[in-house]
Amino acid sequence: MWSNGVWRTVLSLLLFCQYGLSIDIEIGNDASIKKAASSLARGLVRFYTGNATGMIPGLLPDPYFWWEAGAMFMTLVEYWSLTGDTTYNNITTEALLHQIGDNDYLPSNQSRTEGNDDQAFWAFAVLDAAEYNYPNPPPDKPSWLALAQSVFNQQASRWDTQHCGGGLRWQIFTWNNGYNYKNTISNSCFFQMGARLARYTGNQTYAELAEKAFDWLLDIKMIDDEYRVYDGGDVEDNCTNPTILEWTYNYGNLIAGSAYLYNFTNGSDVWGNHLTKLLDAVEVMYPEEYGGKILVEMACEPAETCNVDQPSFKAYFSRWLAIASQLAPFTRDRIRPLMETSAQGAAGQCTGGPQGEWCGRKWYEKVFDGLNGVGEQMSALSVIQNLLIDSTRAPFTANTGGNSTGDPGAGSGGSGGGGGSTSNLLTRPMTSADKGGAWFLMVLIMVLWSLAGWFMLS
Ligand SMILES: *[C@@H]1O[C@H](CO)[C@@H](O)[C@H](O)[C@H]1NC(C)=O
Ligand SMILES: *[C@@H]1O[C@H](CO)[C@@H](O)[C@H](O)[C@H]1NC(C)=O
Ligand SMILES: *[C@@H]1O[C@H](CO)[C@@H](O)[C@H](O)[C@H]1NC(C)=O
Ligand SMILES: *[C@@H]1O[C@H](CO)[C@@H](O)[C@H](O)[C@H]1NC(C)=O
Ligand SMILES: *[C@@H]1O[C@H](CO)[C@@H](O)[C@H](O)[C@H]1NC(C)=O
Ligand SMILES: *[C@@H]1O[C@H](CO)[C@@H](O)[C@H](O)[C@H]1NC(C)=O
Ligand SMILES: *[C@@H]1O[C@H](CO)[C@@H](O)[C@H](O)[C@H]1NC(C)=O
Ligand SMILES: *[C@@H]1O[C@H](CO)[C@@H](O)[C@H](O)[C@H]1NC(C)=O
Repeated sequence: MWSNGVWRTVLSLLLFCQYGLSIDIEIGNDASIKKAASSLARGLVRFYTGNATGMIPGLLPDPYFWWEAGAMFMTLVEYWSLTGDTTYNNITTEALLHQIGDNDYLPSNQSRTEGNDDQAFWAFAVLDAAEYNYPNPPPDKPSWLALAQSVFNQQASRWDTQHCGGGLRWQIFTWNNGYNYKNTISNSCFFQMGARLARYTGNQTYAELAEKAFDWLLDIKMIDDEYRVYDGGDVEDNCTNPTILEWTYNYGNLIAGSAYLYNFTNGSDVWGNHLTKLLDAVEVMYPEEYGGKILVEMACEPAETCNVDQPSFKAYFSRWLAIASQLAPFTRDRIRPLMETSAQGAAGQCTGGPQGEWCGRKWYEKVFDGLNGVGEQMSALSVIQNLLIDSTRAPFTANTGGNSTGDPGAGSGGSGGGGGSTSNLLTRPMTSADKGGAWFLMVLIMVLWSLAGWFMLS
């Protein structure tokens, strides 16, 4: 049935897919960075099926969770702001508007998966949109800024002083695993959101709440005396026994938030010092044994124990490091070399797929490691595209040209949005039938896709 010739074609195609073209970047040459970013963004969007007929805008297929789709659209807004390429703006706007859902980024379809951290990643996407004057939504929709304010206000109302002296719990809903856990990511996201809202709006209240979150993390030693940052603590033991795992994205949140507040306070010593100490501590993510200048997700990458979420963390960390170098210029000379070596490492991993636009995970390895997914792709895109930060204007504020109109009361039961109410979430949690339906569609698409491939070959 299949001649040798056909088999050889298939085989060489497969090999080509593994070790095909590579992504070239030339540091200091913006055109080469943009070209690479464009290939990588195309590779990233290949994973997205939410704009196909009958699919739900803003969702990635299994196994990717809701939050990671928010993070992907955040990265695509950043892609647009750094490169000026509008190719993905339509799918991005559609996704950002659809996932507002019935409750300002607390859509009832996601009540099984959404924690405070998950919700925050969608808020970061619209914060980016506000800060770069990404085209405003139609007038009948809330503005980007109002959406971010709503998420922040919702979370401020979830601040819980009953255990651990404060902090946000990981989960929003009591029925989800992790409700009793106060994780650093939820609180560091809250911190960064507050810092950015303070800088954009000039409203001091956001800065105060952000500072409260930072100080709480210090108080309970989730940020220790050396500014090492841990995963979280349990309400059962009043957060006295932190889980000693360190993730790049927690450092990234704290570094970016400190830089926004540093900028907002016209260069205060307080935030300058926090920033310096965090940058000292995060050197553990650039370990000597892997060259000393390449970013490594130490808690899972070398041992290959990363779950589906974790390979994406380097994307956010890279972005937040870059923005810190811009908003706190005294950190630039320290940050820039780390970005460049990491980006070069990442580019070396981007030799997978037919156009050499799929990226592996371990930036310190010389050959495509075959570990490819949304997280790896987004991380490589992010560290590479953020090399453009020096030639990109700083994020706007309301005083410097930002024109997203806010709604300070959104999400607090006053005006705007669906408020922080969670009552309608009880009506329709995701059933296993929904999940089955999604799976069936995915499998069908994959089967059709491979059939199409075979037809083209024969
Ligand atoms: C979805 O969007 C991508 C990126 O813009 C595009 O390449 C693709 O053709 C779109 N798919 C559909 C079904 O419209
Ligand atoms: C985006 O949508 C507008 C309006 O529907 C359309 O004119 C434009 O061609 C679309 N752009 C892309 C890149 O799909
Ligand atoms: C929630 O699920 C329904 C049914 O699948 C879908 O029509 C709707 O678009 C989803 N809403 C969101 C915000 O994803
Ligand atoms: C729990 O921790 C907080 C913050 O460290 C502290 O203020 C509070 O007294 C502790 N509560 C108990 C019951 O130990
Ligand atoms: C500042 O933010 C707080 C907290 O969201 C809000 O209550 C207050 O109305 C805001 N003030 C102004 C002047 O917008
Ligand atoms: C920062 O500087 C600006 C312009 O000089 C001033 O309006 C603002 O009040 C200052 N902010 C702080 C927190 O000192
Ligand atoms: C705030 O950020 C802007 C934009 O990068 C920069 O020019 C300015 O120097 C920063 N402010 C401080 C105090 O570093
Ligand atoms: C907001 O700013 C953008 C870019 O600077 C501009 O294109 C848009 O027209 C502005 N919108 C309003 C309502 O001023």
